[in-house]
Amino acid sequence: MTNERRCPVTQFDHHSSEHTQNHVAIYRNLREETPVAWTETHGGYWVLSDYASVYEASRDDDLFSSARHDEYGGPGLAVTIPKAPTEFHIPIEIDPPNSAPYRKLINKVTAPKAAEKLEPMIKHYVTGILDSVIETGEADLAIVAGVPAMVVIDWLGLDPAEYQVYVDAMHTLVSAAPGSPEYKHAAEVSVPWVEATVREHIRHRRENPADDTTSYFIDAEINGEKMTDDEIYSILELVISGGVGTTASLVTQSLVWLYQHPDERAQLIENPSMIDVAMEEFLRVFSPTQALGRTIMDDAEFHGCPVQKGDRALLSWASANRDAEQFTDPDEVDITRWPNRHIAFGVGVHRCAGLYIAKGLAREIFTQVFERMGDYVVDMDNVVTYPDQGTNAGFHSIPVTFTPGERRLGDTPLFAEHYTKA
Ligand code: HEM
Repeated sequence: MTNERRCPVTQFDHHSSEHTQNHVAIYRNLREETPVAWTETHGGYWVLSDYASVYEASRDDDLFSSARHDEYGGPGLAVTIPKAPTEFHIPIEIDPPNSAPYRKLINKVTAPKAAEKLEPMIKHYVTGILDSVIETGEADLAIVAGVPAMVVIDWLGLDPAEYQVYVDAMHTLVSAAPGSPEYKHAAEVSVPWVEATVREHIRHRRENPADDTTSYFIDAEINGEKMTDDEIYSILELVISGGVGTTASLVTQSLVWLYQHPDERAQLIENPSMIDVAMEEFLRVFSPTQALGRTIMDDAEFHGCPVQKGDRALLSWASANRDAEQFTDPDEVDITRWPNRHIAFGVGVHRCAGLYIAKGLAREIFTQVFERMGDYVVDMDNVVTYPDQGTNAGFHSIPVTFTPGERRLGDTPLFAEHYTKA
């Protein structure tokens, strides 16, 4: 493959420290100058940055495949660039039409009504995590980032008290720089632990069904057949990896922004009914899942560029969400913006399966933080951002002080003790 066939060529690298510092400006420049461009980093890939190209590619599964093609770009997770060393994920690594029956099964437990049923559990964990700091008047507000993991783990029937290992495994792989010690620890220690634990849990649930989402998948059928342990594991691991880091990224970025914008924070505290519309705007501007990859399945011309079979492509939802062709004043955060056709949850057949759960989580976290520690003051000199913002953007640590309040859970423990170890 020669550069003559590429047009235009950039040195874009979404895992570089420059990108982490300046991704909004870098994407703006790309969108304006070269909305579809080739970059030579990470073995070479196309980067799609305007709304039109990202939207079109996301809906063209024949040309932009999400499936694993180990012969192109090496083995590993098909939807990250570079590919992450994880197991096969269902349904995100299957193209239509074969992805459809799996997606139908998942939708049943993530649809709006099903997500609503999770509200008491979400409320419990948000209440408990804030209880753990509320009397002290100081905290690391990033502790709320643990709630999505607790809920997803509990919902699957796993032990939520172990949520931190799942966060290390799943979130670190997309928030630490590939090759860094944290990334290596996640890949070599935490990910194998998660795999062993979840696989053991599936075996245990086959013998001891319970009222949890793992038992639901064990019972379910795809094309008239029960799923194998491998298939169920692929789904569970994807749900965990999709669930633990993304909502955490959304709420941490939004809470820091709201500290910096006290008028908007006061409006949301006074009018909690505005939270849902504001949340859509936070999804647009912060785009927790910044960008994911595809593999090109044919030689073709795409938006004036000669894409070739086997090329990899990065679709930046974060950049599309700031395209001036689509959004008025795209870099302004307008918490009343409506309509808001952001694509932070992706587009097409792989559009986020967990979006109603994500919104339920974020809504409860915002509501309780505003109610219980609404006057929080962030120590901006000591916030810690994710070291790598190429795939997920957000904060690892947000030191805050606030007026102390009262605990709400009383003697109810944060983690019930009924979880049966397989
Ligand atoms: C703010 C929070 C979230 C954001 C921004 C987000 C973003 C996304 C995006 C962009 C995709 C599309 C991937 C692609 O096209 O390659 C996706 C897929 C997915 N997400 Fe989410 N997600 C969030 C929360 C969640 C949660 C809480 C769960 C699980 C409980 C979840 C489960 C999934 C699954 C299973 C898929 C794959 C769907 C498929 O391939 O059909 N996500 N998500």
